[in-house]
Amino acid sequence: MRILALSGSLRAQSLNTLLLHEAARLAPPGLEITCWEGLDDLPHYSPERDTDPPPPPVAELRGRIAEADALLICTPEYIHAMPAVLKNLLEWVVSSGACMGKPTAAWSVSPSLEGGARAHASLVHTLEVMSARVVPEASLCLTLARSGLDAAGKLSDPVQADRLRGALEALATAVEAP
Ligand SMILES: Cc1cc2nc3c(=O)[nH]c(=O)nc-3n(C[C@H](O)[C@H](O)[C@H](O)COP(=O)(O)O)c2cc1C
Repeated sequence: MRILALSGSLRAQSLNTLLLHEAARLAPPGLEITCWEGLDDLPHYSPERDTDPPPPPVAELRGRIAEADALLICTPEYIHAMPAVLKNLLEWVVSSGACMGKPTAAWSVSPSLEGGARAHASLVHTLEVMSARVVPEASLCLTLARSGLDAAGKLSDPVQADRLRGALEALATAVEAP
């Protein structure tokens, strides 16, 4: 089962991106998580730029989404919402319909006690408008600071690691039972 992981952060030491790499490490057997690295290459969305063929980074993104059995999207919270770079990515995807019906786990990560719950809500709302199949059992809002990951990026807290594994198993179950 191929899962495409999309981080909503451009930061080199992003907690969201580190967590997606940790998810790839913790994934149950049979589940292959690949992190997409092209967020910084996407142009700003404008309908006039949505040409046929589309700009190469957009074509690559849409192709990778189409090939994936499911999506795992992890968003930071910026000013109580998902960051503009992630919304921009979703704007590029919507016209292609690549997300329609796609099983999707929506995650948010923030050092705050709410774990980015407002960004999570904005992500889920947008995904639902796009007709993605958001899987509630696979969704997470995680309170995490850099200290919650060791030098290698592994989660220090076994309870959080279990939550990740549980969410990934729920995503796999949703793919198997449409
Ligand atoms: C412009 C900006 C706005 C932010 N707004 C919020 C916010 O509304 N709520 C929150 O919990 N954290 C907020 N944060 C803190 C981020 O959640 C935190 O920096 C997080 O680590 C970013 O994710 P990343 O590590 O994956 O880049 C904000 C950070 C920045 C830079």
